[in-house]
Amino acid sequence: MCANGCDGCDKKNQNKQWKRDFPIEWEKDHYVTRREMVKFLTLGSAFLVMANGIMAVAGRLARPGEFQRKSVALGSALPVNSSVLFRYPTEADPCILVRGKDGSLSAYSQVCTHLSCAVVHRPEEEVLFCPCHHGYFDVTGGHPIAGPPTRRLPRITLEHAGDVIFATGVEV
Ligand code: FES
Repeated sequence: MCANGCDGCDKKNQNKQWKRDFPIEWEKDHYVTRREMVKFLTLGSAFLVMANGIMAVAGRLARPGEFQRKSVALGSALPVNSSVLFRYPTEADPCILVRGKDGSLSAYSQVCTHLSCAVVHRPEEEVLFCPCHHGYFDVTGGHPIAGPPTRRLPRITLEHAGDVIFATGVEV
């Protein structure tokens, strides 16, 4: 309240004081010049071009072309209609090597293509079985034959050198 007992006078004075403390006009504060806008667009575009270039180079460098050759089992240690587990291409990638009833060898990622549970070999049925939702894959190609999976298991390519079986790559 002012000396004359007027409430309005005090409020007017407070407003003026506030304007003196912060001398920025709201309209001018939000005013963007054409030059600033062009500068922003140019820098933004340059940044996007640079980010695209970096992504392209990183994509080429990270291309998974080369797999290491890794020994995974001895052929003599794998009887007919049996399997052995191994990890390939890294220790975080579980795989399964199966010798079928006809003696042929095939290897697959052990990660089910439905929801990533581990498949196991069921020699009595000659299938790879996923216990999570009862998914079945054939052992000769890793194709889904029953249950929810619709994609085949990634195949691990194999090579033999004498009795040693090597994993050489992954075919998705
Ligand atoms: S996770 Fe294998 S069937 Fe669902």
